[in-house]
Amino acid sequence: MNNRGRDFIPFHAPDIGEEEIRSVVETLQSGWLTTGLKVKRFEEEFSKYLGCSHAVAVNSCTAALHLALDAVGIQVGDEVIVPTMTFTATAEVVLYFKAKPILVDCEPDTLNIDPLDLERKITAKTKAIIPVHMAGQSCNMDRIMEIARRHKLKVIEDAAHALPSRFNGQMVGTIGDITCFSFYVTKTITTGEGGMATTDNPEWADRMRVMSLHGISKDAWKRYSNEGSWYYEVHFPGYKYNLTDIAAAIGIEQLKKCDRFWTARARIAAAYNEAFAALPEIRTPACIPNSQHAWHLYVIQLETERLRIDRAEFITALKDQGIGTSVHFIPLHLHPYYREAFGYKPEDFPTATRVFERIISLPIYPAMSEKSVQRVIAAVTDVVDKNRR
Ligand SMILES: Cc1ncc(COP(=O)(O)O)c(C=O)c1O
Repeated sequence: MNNRGRDFIPFHAPDIGEEEIRSVVETLQSGWLTTGLKVKRFEEEFSKYLGCSHAVAVNSCTAALHLALDAVGIQVGDEVIVPTMTFTATAEVVLYFKAKPILVDCEPDTLNIDPLDLERKITAKTKAIIPVHMAGQSCNMDRIMEIARRHKLKVIEDAAHALPSRFNGQMVGTIGDITCFSFYVTKTITTGEGGMATTDNPEWADRMRVMSLHGISKDAWKRYSNEGSWYYEVHFPGYKYNLTDIAAAIGIEQLKKCDRFWTARARIAAAYNEAFAALPEIRTPACIPNSQHAWHLYVIQLETERLRIDRAEFITALKDQGIGTSVHFIPLHLHPYYREAFGYKPEDFPTATRVFERIISLPIYPAMSEKSVQRVIAAVTDVVDKNRR
């Protein structure tokens, strides 16, 4: 069977309803388009949803990570520990400070940062750890917080995938020193582009808020409203990372649907888990006990020893059947920049190098129909059946 005459199932499609459209139109009609009351409301509702003290809305998770490292005081020459199994944003923000991202290998099952390798990489220069909750499966935050406290390191969680995720019953976003979320279009809730930094520390929240808008004194947006005046002061050389009210208007509505979206994704994950349990060629995602996987991604690992085709050929075969997929991630140490700048070699991160050859992310999003889920299952099963060793 090939793709001809069949609808293509994309790797991802956002779920935007009438509520988001109405909310954006209302915002456009209000005449207030940039950062204002909608952003404030989005922040309040986000912090209430997670149960944290402060939420600072910005225009990407990358911006949130940058502001978080600034808030905890990262300086030139510091070292910050980052998993190699992540998107480049997690490490590039460290480079903004002329600090050094120190890459760490991953666990073979969860693909999360390996706590043993993490601890080995700590030096006198290490100032912070950025754990990434891969695919929405929380890292073992007990281990990571314990290591961080023992070595006096700050923990900035990259939770771009982890809304809503829990570790030992505790919401991700309320555990580390600062947590950063993404509302990029493929994420579990979206504002097109957007991000949020959460923390219980009021000083860091203030610093991130000020630095997100040119280093101008707090509540700068008020200067254009009835409450404000023409006067403002620049206290630091800041950045232009503020979220617009147009984006927040989408975010407020998406957040209301966050739990419903999660239920839909969890149902798809359960259907995949059940179907692929019958295929020894497919390793389904590991779930750690007492945690809630956000199921932002559903990452399978191919048991390539049992197949006659490699991962790239498997992806092509799925594409031929009308199934879009992706790979999360090409580990950082395999990219030219990180290889050349830091001299990393594939064998420096044996687990990440090995699992990279095996991983495929399958479609998982609330707008997927039951028929589409069954088509993905049938296609994966068919490709395995035809290429079994
Ligand atoms: C793990 C991880 N961190 C950070 C980011 C950056 O998010 P944003 O696009 O909102 O800056 C991404 C985006 O894909 C990601 O996957």
